[in-house]
Amino acid sequence: MKHEIVITAQGHKGTMERLQNEFAPVKLWEAADREATLKAAAHVRGLAHFGHSKVDGKLMDALPKLEIISNFGVGVDQIDLVAAKKRSVIVTNTPNVLNECVADCAMSLVLNTLRKFGRAEDYLRAGSWATHGPYPLTASLGGKVMGVLGLGRIGEAIAQRAQAFGMKIRYHNRNRKNVSYEYDPDPVTLARNSDVLIVVTPGGAETAKLVGAAVLDALGPSGYLVNVARGSVVDEKLLLRYLQERKIAGAGLDVFENEPKVPAEFFTLDNAVLYPHVASATVETRKAMGDLQVENLHLHFAGKPVKTPISG
Ligand code: NAP
Ligand code: 8YV
Repeated sequence: MKHEIVITAQGHKGTMERLQNEFAPVKLWEAADREATLKAAAHVRGLAHFGHSKVDGKLMDALPKLEIISNFGVGVDQIDLVAAKKRSVIVTNTPNVLNECVADCAMSLVLNTLRKFGRAEDYLRAGSWATHGPYPLTASLGGKVMGVLGLGRIGEAIAQRAQAFGMKIRYHNRNRKNVSYEYDPDPVTLARNSDVLIVVTPGGAETAKLVGAAVLDALGPSGYLVNVARGSVVDEKLLLRYLQERKIAGAGLDVFENEPKVPAEFFTLDNAVLYPHVASATVETRKAMGDLQVENLHLHFAGKPVKTPISG
């Protein structure tokens, strides 16, 4: 007998195939009448979640037998963890399997923001090399200070890479870690001490607009911001203005406040590098994330402890 699960959205292809083959799925995103679909699924014990839609107390109440929410992705800011805990619903995510890929993407944003390789290639392709001469000089990475705001699993993988590029590392977390990197007591001090501030905290209410005017002012006109965390962690409107007015030197962004919508003014900036939330988007990593999502569901239905629960 296949266990029934609710799937909230159309997700990664290979994972969708596994979920649909190995479970009996209720496809919530296809429901013509969401309320009626949820009513018919009131006995379902598991939910597989993809993407940006909210998994809140209201949805949990509509599924009173729910025992587990298995998220595709390490960030769970779209899931109401307090509501889940109140209802004794286990929440799982997909940590670690994506650290290296996300760190690669973060380093590519650092490289492309400072060295402007993308713009240099556009310059060549436009024929400007022959007509206007060499592409303007850019900024080196070596010797610069990278401040990691959120030195967790991914932050540590980024710091390792940045060191290999000759960068010096500082960090700020709420809790100091047993690492050799210099610690700063708050995000403003970290920004003041950094040439490149890289944001890799979780999203959600606790970190909303953590990077606002005070942090950007401390980063200053020669500082760069890179965000691979969540759009919500940065005051996006303010960042746009600071980039337009050159109050910071540049930004590399993989995440935005209202994805997939990105304010069109960003497209006109020559000091921003913009990616469509692709940090974990490789064949291998997305498969590993999906396998972990599916494994957590199977373990739970077999009465075993899940592999990657969210604590608290
Ligand atoms: P993690 O291991 O839990 O690391 C998060 C770090 O942030 C921890 O060191 C934590 O330390 C710190 N932190 C949390 N709240 C903070 C706050 N208010 N101020 C300062 N530091 C804070 O998580 P991870 O696996 O590295 O993932 C981090 C985040 O990256 C995810 O939650 C997700 O949003 C994002 N992400 C994005 C992509 C993408 O595709 N762009 C892919 C994967 C992950 P303390 O608890 O000591 O503060
Ligand atoms: C994915 C992510 O792009 O893991 C995360 O938190 O942001 C990314 O790996 C996302 O989860 C896919 O929807």
